[in-house]
Amino acid sequence: MLASLVLFLALGLQQCWAQNSRSCPAVTQHLTDPPYDNYFYSNCNSDSQVVVTSPLPDSNLTIIGPRFIVAWPAGASGICTFFQPQNGPNGSLAIELVNSTLGSPLGPVYRTSSNSDNSFVGVQGVLAFNSSATLTVPILGSIRTIRDFTEGPSLLRPVIQDAVNITRSNGTGATISRLWLDNVTTTSFTLVPYQNPGSNITINQRNKTVSFGAGFYAFSASFNYPQLTQLPPSQVLNSASQNLIDQRPDQTTSLSFLSYTEKLLAGAWRFLTYFGRDSMISALLLEPVLSQGNGSATEAVIGAVLERLNRSDGSVCHEETIGDYATYLNLENNITSTSPGFTYPMIDTDYYLTVLMAQYFNTSPSRVGPLLNRSAGSIDVQNRNLTYQALALINAQKIMNITAAFAQNQIAANLIHLKPDEIVGQWRDSTYGLGGGRIPFDVNTALVPAALRAIGQLARTPGVFPNSTSTSSWRTLADRRAQIWEENALQFFETNITASTARSRLQNFANTATFYDGPANASSLPSSGNITTYAIALNGYNNLSSVNVQHSDTGFRLFFVNASASTPEAAAQETRFINATANSLIRSFPAGLMTPQSIIVANPALSGSDVLIANFTNAAYHGCVIWSFQLSMMAKGLERQLARCDSTNTTSAASATPAWCSDSSVYNNVLLAYNTLWDSIEANSAQLQGEVWSWRYNNRTGNFTTLPLGVLPPPPGVSAGTESDIRQLWSLTFLAVTRNQNLTVV
Ligand SMILES: *[C@@H]1O[C@H](CO)[C@@H](O)[C@H](O)[C@H]1NC(C)=O
Ligand SMILES: *[C@@H]1O[C@H](CO)[C@@H](O)[C@H](O)[C@H]1NC(C)=O
Ligand SMILES: *[C@@H]1O[C@H](CO)[C@@H](O)[C@H](O)[C@H]1NC(C)=O
Ligand SMILES: *[C@@H]1O[C@H](CO)[C@@H](O)[C@H](O)[C@H]1NC(C)=O
Ligand SMILES: *[C@@H]1O[C@H](CO)[C@@H](O)[C@H](O)[C@H]1NC(C)=O
Ligand SMILES: *[C@@H]1O[C@H](CO)[C@@H](O)[C@H](O)[C@H]1NC(C)=O
Ligand SMILES: *[C@@H]1O[C@H](CO)[C@@H](O)[C@H](O)[C@H]1NC(C)=O
Ligand SMILES: *[C@@H]1O[C@H](CO)[C@@H](O)[C@H](O)[C@H]1NC(C)=O
Ligand SMILES: *[C@@H]1O[C@H](CO)[C@@H](O)[C@H](O)[C@H]1NC(C)=O
Ligand SMILES: *[C@@H]1O[C@H](CO)[C@@H](O)[C@H](O)[C@H]1NC(C)=O
Ligand SMILES: *[C@@H]1O[C@H](CO)[C@@H](O)[C@H](O)[C@H]1NC(C)=O
Ligand SMILES: *[C@@H]1O[C@H](CO)[C@@H](O)[C@H](O)[C@H]1NC(C)=O
Repeated sequence: MLASLVLFLALGLQQCWAQNSRSCPAVTQHLTDPPYDNYFYSNCNSDSQVVVTSPLPDSNLTIIGPRFIVAWPAGASGICTFFQPQNGPNGSLAIELVNSTLGSPLGPVYRTSSNSDNSFVGVQGVLAFNSSATLTVPILGSIRTIRDFTEGPSLLRPVIQDAVNITRSNGTGATISRLWLDNVTTTSFTLVPYQNPGSNITINQRNKTVSFGAGFYAFSASFNYPQLTQLPPSQVLNSASQNLIDQRPDQTTSLSFLSYTEKLLAGAWRFLTYFGRDSMISALLLEPVLSQGNGSATEAVIGAVLERLNRSDGSVCHEETIGDYATYLNLENNITSTSPGFTYPMIDTDYYLTVLMAQYFNTSPSRVGPLLNRSAGSIDVQNRNLTYQALALINAQKIMNITAAFAQNQIAANLIHLKPDEIVGQWRDSTYGLGGGRIPFDVNTALVPAALRAIGQLARTPGVFPNSTSTSSWRTLADRRAQIWEENALQFFETNITASTARSRLQNFANTATFYDGPANASSLPSSGNITTYAIALNGYNNLSSVNVQHSDTGFRLFFVNASASTPEAAAQETRFINATANSLIRSFPAGLMTPQSIIVANPALSGSDVLIANFTNAAYHGCVIWSFQLSMMAKGLERQLARCDSTNTTSAASATPAWCSDSSVYNNVLLAYNTLWDSIEANSAQLQGEVWSWRYNNRTGNFTTLPLGVLPPPPGVSAGTESDIRQLWSLTFLAVTRNQNLTVV
């Protein structure tokens, strides 16, 4: 099965009329990735995404069943309904959205009510069922509650499910509704026979299911909760990039769907809310095209991060908990409150803020005052009475505090570790994402030195930090410290294995891996000498001192660090690093990271560890799978490093030309890697805006086939597979990251 992304985009001709009769045009988008069909609908009143899942003939029916989701950014809210065939076997029921007088296929719901401060908004349309069906499980409220069911071990919470009511509506229809724990908001899902004479939905009150015959049913999905204000494409993009709206309407429409005045959202449908890491990485990669200034997308990102910053320790918020899930978590703590929650489990997220601020104020120095003088507190009341400047300072102080020990004494114990009570801490935030490692590569070799360089720059920028002896000392101290981290952290992750060891490990992988039974591609390894790789983290599960999977986090160092070596040893280390990184991109899987679906984010084939091979599979969220933003960051990182070799390039004047630039074998290898990567990016253009994708190898044909991650059974020990978002904020960064034709090899 080929996962195809077909796109129809329509600036809706249909208009809905708001309360005051002002025109309210709709923007719609249809994206398919079988077995998933995605529909987006935005107008002046609300923003909705609908995901219809219908099994394909070759679907694994344990994983893929008929499912209908409506997801809303406001409150990260949604509705999820699962269907079963009433009589036929699993797999015999198919569902789809069809065009009708109610919408093409979606239309708006907008209803005011005297009992509610907020209007009821959402979407309507017609669903077609090919056979009689039962709606078995309705989940109404928060997307987090839905994800607890779809991603957890099918978790349903009585306090949520017991509040679901089913009532008769329009004579033969049914309305499923639930009052949120806030006692104010109601989510409703109505199904009514549509051009379906004789059909009468049966309501089973005892088990809260509804059953009905084959045919068409009008649906309406709505809720009354305060809505966000979407930024139209013209406001998300800077004035120089407005042409993208016509050139790449699909991508700019998606970017707009994820962009709001108060924050940018990480992805649709599973992450329709604030995520610190996602929004800052996106803003960094999108910089050439993203709007700047008052009310801009860039300030929405920086403002969202500062508003949610932990004032007591300077940590940047990973995820916010809002809407019904916030009230639910408060209730779990015996607190009656709808106040949002802010989580701080990550260690990487702290470091992106100063890098983003340094980049922004470098191009928009006039925004230092207006942005940093703003008062916080509109999102997290804890931060009331603090300015953005004060919050940014606390974050910089935290970074200066926790990077001091390693600057004094370069031992592994002084590297940055995951928080003691967390098993995740950076972007590979699944149980096996780091193989249990406690000291991640990206944070220590890239993000820490980049944040220190940024603090140095911000300290030298008038008005960013308040004047004090400590902030003035950062003007030189931060860069000195960055240099120490740049030159001394990498060695803890470096590993050499001999070519013969690598070959035998590789062959063992090809012989034993459960998810790959093709050739080892050993010829791409050198015939003698050493192969250098970099551990993804140190101190892994099963007493592994380092988690030696090949990985794409090398791209963080290329993108974030311009290491200018102060010693010959540091220069040689940098040469080994960029050459090894280029090799890992050029070598075909399983010898390296390159597959026909582009570079995978982790590959255990050279690890020699059965436990790593068993867990880093092509079904693992952070295993042998492809993440779009890693391609984007790697491509931009290689381009940045290659630019430093160009002595005519004025931007490279600030940092010395690296030694490897004049080693033609290394330079040409890096150039080859850049072009090999871009060839693979272009070959996979249909997937690029998605979050993550996978593949299956067919030993008979020797072919790799692209697969949605969600259709694969989960790896061992994981309770459910992971479904990819059809659109992810940081996967839209190819709007700004494009192939540099000057680097083409002829
Ligand atoms: C439904 O309507 C949309 C918008 O007019 C159109 O693009 C699409 O082709 C229609 N679908 C079908 C199956 O007719
Ligand atoms: C239900 O009936 C009302 C009143 O006749 C009508 O306006 C509405 O469109 C119907 N709803 C559905 C979903 O058929
Ligand atoms: C659900 O039913 C209960 C009991 O009849 C009622 O008090 C409540 O208001 C209903 N909730 C909704 C959302 O209809
Ligand atoms: C909602 O109402 C219930 C019942 O009156 C009450 O126990 C609960 O505290 C209320 N919740 C909130 C968030 O006000
Ligand atoms: C639909 O079914 C319900 C319950 O079985 C019954 O009360 C109602 O009269 C039926 N309506 C129609 C229009 O047949
Ligand atoms: C729910 O109850 C109805 C009526 O008692 C029954 O026919 C149906 O099988 C039940 N459905 C489920 C999913 O339990
Ligand atoms: C909430 O209250 C219940 C009942 O008093 C108690 O068992 C539980 O431990 C409390 N939970 C928290 C988080 O305090
Ligand atoms: C913020 O300042 C106002 C006025 O000075 C004061 O009333 C309020 O308690 C302060 N809020 C916080 C959270 O410190
Ligand atoms: C940084 O360290 C200083 C001195 O120990 C301390 O006063 C301050 O609270 C720390 N700040 C943060 C954000 O950790
Ligand atoms: C901070 O220091 C700079 C340079 O030393 C000086 O120009 C500036 O006026 C000072 N600002 C304040 C608010 O004291
Ligand atoms: C790996 O080998 C190179 C020489 O090829 C050497 O310079 C480097 O120190 C070695 N790294 C480690 C961690 O042993
Ligand atoms: C289908 O999924 C189930 C549940 O994950 C898994 O156990 C089973 O092996 C899968 N079947 C096939 C043919 O992949």
